Amino acid sequence: MKTKGRRLSLRREPERPAPRTPGSRRAADRPGDVVRRLEELREKIRYHLHRYHVLDAPEISDEAFDALMGELRALEAAHPALVTPDSPTQRVGAPPAEGFRPVTHPQPMRSLANAFDEDELRAWYKRVVTNLGTATVDLVCELKLDGAAISLVYERGVFVRGATRGDGVRGEDITPNLRTVRSLPLRLREDSDPPEFVEVRGEVFLPLRALEAINRERETAGEPPFANARNAAAGSLRQLDPAVTARRPLDLVIYQVGVVRGRRFKTHRESLEWARTAGVPVDPHSRRAASIEDVLAYVREWSAQRQTLPYGTDGIVVKVDSLDQQAELGATSQAPRWAIAYKFPAEQAETAVRDITVHVGRTGALTPVADLEPVRVSGVIVRHATLHNEDEMRRKDVRIGDHVIVQRAGEVIPEVVRVLTEKRTGDERPFAMPATCPVCGSPVERKPGEAVARCTGGAICPAQVLERLIHFGSRDALNIEGVGPKLLQQLLDRELIRDPADLFRLTRAQVLTLERMADKSADNVIAAIARSRRPTLARLVYSLGIRHVGLHVAEVLAQHFGDLDRLARASLEEVSDVPGIGPTIAQSVVEFFQQPATRAFLRKLEAAGVRPEAPSAASKGRLSGKTFVFTGALERFSRREAAERVAALGGTVTDSVSARTSYLVAGGDPGSKLERARKLGVTVLDEPGLIRLLEER
Ligand code: IVH
Repeated sequence: MKTKGRRLSLRREPERPAPRTPGSRRAADRPGDVVRRLEELREKIRYHLHRYHVLDAPEISDEAFDALMGELRALEAAHPALVTPDSPTQRVGAPPAEGFRPVTHPQPMRSLANAFDEDELRAWYKRVVTNLGTATVDLVCELKLDGAAISLVYERGVFVRGATRGDGVRGEDITPNLRTVRSLPLRLREDSDPPEFVEVRGEVFLPLRALEAINRERETAGEPPFANARNAAAGSLRQLDPAVTARRPLDLVIYQVGVVRGRRFKTHRESLEWARTAGVPVDPHSRRAASIEDVLAYVREWSAQRQTLPYGTDGIVVKVDSLDQQAELGATSQAPRWAIAYKFPAEQAETAVRDITVHVGRTGALTPVADLEPVRVSGVIVRHATLHNEDEMRRKDVRIGDHVIVQRAGEVIPEVVRVLTEKRTGDERPFAMPATCPVCGSPVERKPGEAVARCTGGAICPAQVLERLIHFGSRDALNIEGVGPKLLQQLLDRELIRDPADLFRLTRAQVLTLERMADKSADNVIAAIARSRRPTLARLVYSLGIRHVGLHVAEVLAQHFGDLDRLARASLEEVSDVPGIGPTIAQSVVEFFQQPATRAFLRKLEAAGVRPEAPSAASKGRLSGKTFVFTGALERFSRREAAERVAALGGTVTDSVSARTSYLVAGGDPGSKLERARKLGVTVLDEPGLIRLLEER
């Protein structure tokens, strides 16, 4: 999700006037309405930030998001007294998500100021030399990789912690996931003489080919493809189950050495050179620049060449090389003055809209899609572009027959940037979202405050039924190999199945009646279905396709409730109490399980022999005979949850510490139990230690 090469960002860009929507004018006119509009904007922006940063599933384009932010900024600028500290304008990024332990960075992770053309780069350079009072300055040019920012801490050469950027001050502890990234050294090379403490920062990314392969797989599996490289990397890193991260071929490049203890570097280049000898991957394309002309040459070179790189880049970063000079220049609250990011313009092309159609998704969401005259954009033939939703389509005023500019947002999903109204002949036809579902004819509903219109057909809508089946069997759900959209469509057409539970009743003879189905492949299909009868609880919950319940949330729910029945019977309060589950998700989960159709479906699944696998015998008794005592507050789980997980592995939780206690788990602010445990020589675990123990195989 990226437009005009600009990433969803909360950075202030004062040179560019904030876009104003008609609403801002109206609201600003009546003081009483201002507060309400401010709140409404903040609420909307928080919702979209959450979708973008936490769910990795943006719903609107960057432009639409920028318009909301622009309106909020303009309104706050006009009413400074109404700026609240928690306004989205006051933040650099997204706060850490629940479900991961928060970590405070040794030094805030700031973002970068942007330059969108050569003049803005020259202006930055001028400011730098003026501020330093020198005639020239040594600079370094680097590629700006498009992935997710991470911070890695090494103590005495050993990798001890890795975190996401989060809101810049606090990120999420994703150490176990980062350990699965192959190019990340778990130990720095001895001959680099590792300092006692060093934090390095960089970008984790998915090589483009891997990203394309994953997206193809996701599409075959009926899942939404990742909107861009950043979302793919961030989504892969922020998995509660590191095994999921391990399956993604993530790579890493370090672009900065942060806090160092026990060593001093003079220049940025020197620090990266050291990092390279320590075995940390650094960008091999970085280059020294002695003048702004050198910088511009680098920019021009890479603007032309970047398509040849195996990973996505969205710009060039220029940095002052001397660390003393960096310190002298300092930073604003948002970004350092000693660096700037030049953003490449996104690749665009002109084409025509042949038609506008509506895609019906698994949850009934209707997405308008432009069918395009095929056109090549950054090396790929583009035939369709998403129009996101009705409001977006209206805002851009896209009509059938229009000539439009399309671009590949973040190199992946094409979108319509704008209409070339000057090319209109008068024959263009506006498209109205249908009042009834184009597939099943059920009424379409759009709830107040929601951007998405939905088909209300539910189980009778063939499009939703197919999408749900695809989702049910997809890789992260029940992973029924070889049962893809085409096969499912045939089964539906022949009325051999109506819902996912019917799959388990299919006979070999029935499967053999399908097109191009030989003995061997029919056997494979039946075997794959049979194998999927014992999914983990998390997979089963995910496979149900509950709105707002992605893999991550499904894992949280499974871990908390431990049992499908308990989850299905949970009250709104109980679900809302689960750490990491917000009110929208809780509401959706409870509503889902209350529906009679859901209950009938779950009974049918059970009758078909589909049951979540019991924890394996080996892991079941792993902690049997061990006793645990808890003291202090835990961050990642509630006390109850931690106790449940210990119990699930056969351990016993008791209240007081004795010589027979196996482990004392000490959270924040531990009480007197900690002292007692130390005296008695009981092993003390901190929360990460407990998590490691629980996750050991
Ligand atoms: S330097 C304080 N160098 O771009 C300066 N950042 O908006 C820290 N990025 O989230 C950033 N490549 O993750 C720097 N060569 C590079 C980079 C880079 C990508 C990302 C970074 C940050 C964003 C800055």
